[in-house]
Amino acid sequence: AAAATTEATKNLVVTRGCVTSCGGVDIPYPFGIGSGCFRKGFEIECINNSPVLAGTSIHVVHLSGDPAESLVMLPVGWQCYNTSSPDKVEASSHGETEMNKHGVYRLSNTHNMLVILGCNTMGNIGSVRTTRDVDEYSYYMGCMTFCNYSATAQDGLCASVGCCHVDIPPGLTHNYFYFRVYDHTGMMDFSPCDYAFLVDRTNYTFRRSDLLRDTNRTSPVWLDWAIRGDDDSTSLSCAEAAKATTTEYACVSNHSDCVNATNGPGYNCRCSKGYQGNAYLVNGCSS
Ligand SMILES: *[C@@H]1O[C@H](CO)[C@@H](O)[C@H](O)[C@H]1NC(C)=O
Ligand SMILES: *[C@@H]1O[C@H](CO)[C@@H](O)[C@H](O)[C@H]1NC(C)=O
Ligand SMILES: *[C@@H]1O[C@H](CO)[C@@H](O)[C@H](O)[C@H]1NC(C)=O
Ligand SMILES: *[C@@H]1O[C@H](CO)[C@@H](O)[C@H](O)[C@H]1NC(C)=O
Ligand SMILES: *[C@@H]1O[C@H](CO)[C@@H](O)[C@H](O)[C@H]1NC(C)=O
Ligand SMILES: *[C@@H]1O[C@H](CO)[C@@H](O)[C@H](O)[C@H]1NC(C)=O
Repeated sequence: AAAATTEATKNLVVTRGCVTSCGGVDIPYPFGIGSGCFRKGFEIECINNSPVLAGTSIHVVHLSGDPAESLVMLPVGWQCYNTSSPDKVEASSHGETEMNKHGVYRLSNTHNMLVILGCNTMGNIGSVRTTRDVDEYSYYMGCMTFCNYSATAQDGLCASVGCCHVDIPPGLTHNYFYFRVYDHTGMMDFSPCDYAFLVDRTNYTFRRSDLLRDTNRTSPVWLDWAIRGDDDSTSLSCAEAAKATTTEYACVSNHSDCVNATNGPGYNCRCSKGYQGNAYLVNGCSS
C-alpha cells in the first residue's frame, strides 16, 4: 500500500512514481500498475498499451474513483447445438472469469441488464458462489425467449422473441451463465446457439444477426467497487474501519469522508464537500 505522496494536477491525482494511465485510460489509486502502486484487489496490468484487470484478459475501458465504478469488457456465456443432432449441445461456455479474486467488485445493478439471446432457451446468471461447493452457484434470475421461425425476431426489439432482458439485483459477484437445453431441431439455420450476457443498459440493441454463431464476444459491463475483505465477514463498515488496527483505513486524505458501499459490504472514500481529488491518497483532496 503506497499512499505516500501525491501530485495533484487539475482533475488527475496519482501516487508519485506510479504510471497514471494506460492506453488512454486514467488509473486512479486505489487502482494502479506495478508494485507499490495499487491497493490489494485493485491491480491493473498494462499489456501492449491496453489495461486489463491483473491476472485476466479482461479489458478495462474506464476507471472512476467517485463514483466508485469500473467499465470492463466481460465474456458472453453461450451454448451451441450440434448440427446433426440439434437436441444436443455441442460446445458451451459459462463466461466465467477470475475478475473477482479479491472480492472488491459487485456487478452494478443500476447500470447493467441481463440479456439472453436464442430462439428457444432459458438463460440464467449464476452470480454468487455458494459455500457448499466451489463450482456451485446460486441461480438467481433469467428469462425465456422463443421464436418460431427466423422472421419473428425483430431488429431493435428485445421482447422475448429471440431476445429477452431482465434487471439484476444488487450483490452479484460473478459473471457466470447457465442455460436449459431445449431441442433446436428446425432452428439451426437461424439460431444455432444461445447467448447470455450482462451489458450496460444504454449499450445494447438487439439485431437478428446476433443470433448467429459468433461465440467469441465480450460486452461492456459496469462494476461497483469498494474497500472490502476477501469475503463478506472480513469487510468493514465505515465505523469499523475507522477504528480498526489490523486493516489499513483507506480514507487517508484530510478533507475526506467515508461512505458505506451501496452495492455489497465495505466502504468508499470521497472528498468532503468543497474539495475534489482522490480521497484514497494522502493530501489527495484539495479545494
Ligand atoms: C454431433 O452429433 C453427431 C451425431 O450424433 C456425433 O457423431 C458428433 O460426434 C457430434 N459432434 C459433436 C462435436 O458433439
Ligand atoms: C410457427 O409459425 C407458422 C407460420 O406462422 C405457423 O403455421 C405454426 O403453427 C407456428 N408453430 C408454432 C409451434 O407456433
Ligand atoms: C458501447 O460500449 C463500447 C465499449 O465501451 C463503446 O465503444 C461504444 O461506444 C458504446 N456504445 C454506446 C452506444 O454507448
Ligand atoms: C477472440 O477475439 C479477440 C479479439 O477480437 C481475438 O484477439 C482472439 O484471438 C479471438 N479468439 C478466438 C478463439 O477466436
Ligand atoms: C454503515 O454501516 C454500518 C454497519 O452496517 C452501520 O452501523 C452504519 O450506521 C452505516 N453508516 C451509515 C452512514 O449509513
Ligand atoms: C490538510 O489539507 C491542507 C489543504 O487542504 C494542507 O495544507 C495540509 O497540509 C493538510 N494537513 C495534513 C496534516 O495533511
